[in-house]
Amino acid sequence: MTGVLAELLRRRLLLVTGKGGTGKTSVAAALGRLAADAGVKTLVVELGHAPVLPDLLIAQRPRASGNPRRDPLPAGPNLFTLHLIPEEALLEYLELQLRVRMLARGIVGNAGFRRFLEAAPGWRELITLGKLWHMVTREDAHGQPLWPLIVIDAPATGHGLSLLSTPTVILDTVRLGPLRRNTDLVQALLTDASRTLVLTVTLLEELPVNETLELRARVRELGLGLGPVIANGLEPPLALADAERVLEVVASLDSADVPSPLADPPTVCASARHRLLRARMHAGFLTRLERETEAAPLVLPWLEQGVDGPDGVAALALCLHRALEQRDRESRS
Ligand SMILES: Nc1ncnc2c1ncn2[C@@H]1O[C@H](COP(=O)(O)OP(=O)(O)OP(=O)(O)O)[C@@H](O)[C@H]1O
Ligand SMILES: [Mg+2]
Repeated sequence: MTGVLAELLRRRLLLVTGKGGTGKTSVAAALGRLAADAGVKTLVVELGHAPVLPDLLIAQRPRASGNPRRDPLPAGPNLFTLHLIPEEALLEYLELQLRVRMLARGIVGNAGFRRFLEAAPGWRELITLGKLWHMVTREDAHGQPLWPLIVIDAPATGHGLSLLSTPTVILDTVRLGPLRRNTDLVQALLTDASRTLVLTVTLLEELPVNETLELRARVRELGLGLGPVIANGLEPPLALADAERVLEVVASLDSADVPSPLADPPTVCASARHRLLRARMHAGFLTRLERETEAAPLVLPWLEQGVDGPDGVAALALCLHRALEQRDRESRS
């Protein structure tokens, strides 16, 4: 494997973020699928309240084995998914530290401890990053990484940035002790662009594009490496060689001659013009993204069948693969 895909898959942590609703989860799932198909054992981690990745990645769920709140679910050859729940990760951490499960459960279940936690802003982000660090550094019996690649369906812009900035805030305020030492390790992983990259997903519209550019600037300020912009949902081209001339001919047809109201010439012309306009708008935002980030985005088309299960994810993964190959061809020419 060579080129941009190989460059991406050499990393240990790929964080997929962007404005809400732009396709972060779909892209994280597709990237996981693509990496796994390329032979890299991949874990796709989601951080939201209710898990959606099992439905996106797994056609037939195996009967649960292990702890469903803690253990990654197999999603096909080389592919696993995990819903990272901070409360569960905290419990796991305390068990590891205290070595007594009942004691850890007692502490986490204690109302006073929970009140103390809720008063400590950022504990969820901290424990989430700690757990990710732990998974990146875990090794198998042969001393190889247990999870060579972790793709994270990270929260949207605001929450995503507070997750990524948590170590900076702590390092600015805590000078000594175990919290400082652990945060140093997490920050070293996040800010090492040979191990961690942030990928930003956007739609080709005004607000998401503006937000993407601001998000990338903030990520850079935090010292993290940025991967390419992923421009999702491109309007597929109208398969017409000379659209304007075809539309003129359609417009001149007599409504009385067409077989269905949906084929009514003004309706056909209006919907075709709408698509042409959207395609023009998308092309404009692509140019702007390329100019302002000094790199062409990876472009994914809008898929009519949607991305609501393994077939849709496989189709999006194929589009992502083609976009990466296109990038390789461009950089060779
Ligand atoms: N390229 C695409 N073609 C067709 N449908 C898509 C595409 N990308 C995403 N979708 C659909 O758009 C919707 C939003 O996508 P998704 O859930 O991945 O976005 P998100 O950024 O994770 O949203 P949220 O911020 O709510 O987590 C979903 O219904 C998804 O199936
Ligand atoms: Mg999502």
